[in-house]
Amino acid sequence: MLTKEKIISYLYEIKNGKLKIEIDFFNDKDQKLGKLKPVVDSKIKDNSKIVKLMTKWRKDYKDKFFTQFEITEERTKSWLDNQIIKSDDRIFFMIEINDKKLIGHIGVVFFKDNDLVCELDNFVKDKDCQISGIMTYATKALINFLFNSLKMEKLKIRVFSDNLKAQELYIRCGFSKIKEVGLKKEITEDGIRYTEIEESDIRASDKTMVLMALKRKDFNINKNI
Ligand SMILES: CC(C)(COP(=O)(O)OP(=O)(O)OC[C@H]1O[C@@H](n2cnc3c(N)ncnc32)[C@H](O)[C@@H]1OP(=O)(O)O)[C@@H](O)C(=O)NCCC(=O)NCCS
Repeated sequence: MLTKEKIISYLYEIKNGKLKIEIDFFNDKDQKLGKLKPVVDSKIKDNSKIVKLMTKWRKDYKDKFFTQFEITEERTKSWLDNQIIKSDDRIFFMIEINDKKLIGHIGVVFFKDNDLVCELDNFVKDKDCQISGIMTYATKALINFLFNSLKMEKLKIRVFSDNLKAQELYIRCGFSKIKEVGLKKEITEDGIRYTEIEESDIRASDKTMVLMALKRKDFNINKNI
């Protein structure tokens, strides 16, 4: 088992380009479809393609996220710098298909609840990408990496209750619904933020989300659900 300190230094080395990792993903016929590539420091500075795409996608899917604000490239870049590259507990993967095109992304937050629990977030697939199942295969490869290489024990996802398309993806990957949680809408400086409220207050909530989870012992990468 990797200690928390080891994982922090592993993530640090990846994000600073000292350690190169890529997670290949395959379809059911074992044909390679693409790879998950971590966002590294040098890419954010030298190549704004990632920032441009992420900004566009965030605008396209603004209402799917718990925090909604005025979306700009500067803000995306600053978020990547401060919340991903400099953070101890996060990593962010772009999804690249075989022709080198970037078609989406997924984020990972480590050490939720305890050192062996991660939360997956920021699932996005480019609206123009018509490849059926690509997110399922990419997500399963990421889950496999977290469970079998990093030895995590449990993964969590929080998703709006009305976002059925995302929930279907998570269920295809093996996640189950744990509970529904009420959300309170808060007005921020330039937008809104939904925060969790006490279970007992669910009827008074502005919106609800579903908490989903998957344990290592229940995951089988080859299982078609
Ligand atoms: C959530 C999101 C990433 C899911 O993408 P997706 O296109 O449904 O996922 P996939 O690439 O796995 O494709 C699934 C589709 O391919 C089909 N499919 C075909 N062959 C498949 C296969 N072998 N394996 C899996 N799915 C397959 C599925 O049935 C599904 O069809 P449908 O679109 O008619 O339901 C996408 O909807 C998105 O970007 N949404 C906006 C952002 C968002 O809501 N993020 C989540 C915030 S919590």
